[in-house]
Amino acid sequence: MALAEANRKFFDSLTDTYDDAPWRAKAITQITDAVREHLNWIGVNWAKPEPNAGVEEAEKVRLLDYACGTGLISRALGPYVTTTTGIDISPNMVSAFNKRATDVGIPQSQVSAVVGNLFTPESSDALAEPEYFNFDIVAVGSAYHHFEDVTLATKRLVERLKPGGVLFIIDFIQGAGMDHSHEHGHHGYVHHGPNNDHGHGHAHHAHHGYSHTDIPEDVLKELPKEMIDSIKVTDFDEAHVRAFFEEAGLVEFAISVLDEKLYMEYSGRSMERTVFFAKGMKPVAQDI
Ligand SMILES: C[S@@+](CC[C@H](N)C(=O)[O-])C[C@H]1O[C@@H](n2cnc3c(N)ncnc32)[C@H](O)[C@@H]1O
Repeated sequence: MALAEANRKFFDSLTDTYDDAPWRAKAITQITDAVREHLNWIGVNWAKPEPNAGVEEAEKVRLLDYACGTGLISRALGPYVTTTTGIDISPNMVSAFNKRATDVGIPQSQVSAVVGNLFTPESSDALAEPEYFNFDIVAVGSAYHHFEDVTLATKRLVERLKPGGVLFIIDFIQGAGMDHSHEHGHHGYVHHGPNNDHGHGHAHHAHHGYSHTDIPEDVLKELPKEMIDSIKVTDFDEAHVRAFFEEAGLVEFAISVLDEKLYMEYSGRSMERTVFFAKGMKPVAQDI
């Protein structure tokens, strides 16, 4: 819970300026273009892009944008789904998400977000109404590295999918973007909660499989404490992602690493991250 609370605070404080940084405009375009280039790869039976062509019940395509922030993934996938539900732990992010949608005249029945955290111990009671289940796709953009327990998170998100539905996540891959000069001599960062010190304990790497982050240590050290406190890891490796997808019961796992790196700036420090997309399908129950 401590990590979740750190996220709520950090992203609440960030909301107003979240989309304003000049570097972010390019990142938004990059992610949006890459998502759209991956529509077939994601493998959802997407809605036809013609606007409101008398959508039948059977043609509905329902998106859950989990940890939606201001709605980047919702906007990227918007033309290919019929309804979008956002969930985010940060009330300010949820307000910004809803304001953006209403400002451009999208009805709430089509796109809206609510505050929530599906990963609390008691969260089987949270968001229990039918409208929060049976999604065709659950998408999570750049948020898995903020989650305390990615296996629990994945299981909880899979509960929200319909059989045959797809979990699609976007995050940073380990090491792939590493500048050669940084290849040795720095170590991956693993964070165990906002109250711990931020030691780069090597013992954790073997255990969790996180090492060789592509963020140089000098950059890591200069990132604001509130940001560091909001993350669990800086990046993932493919085997780990596959493992928590499969442990949550997903099948047809696939991963795609984007060629073009994402440029980011925080606290006057710049960094380049390598982005991956991963997807898995909730099995369709077989008749016995
Ligand atoms: C880096 S932002 C990404 C926002 C958006 N998906 C995007 O791609 O721009 C991470 C988001 O995850 C949210 N978040 C972090 N932990 C969460 C949790 N346990 N449940 C729901 N949202 C969470 C934060 O509030 C924040 O809006």
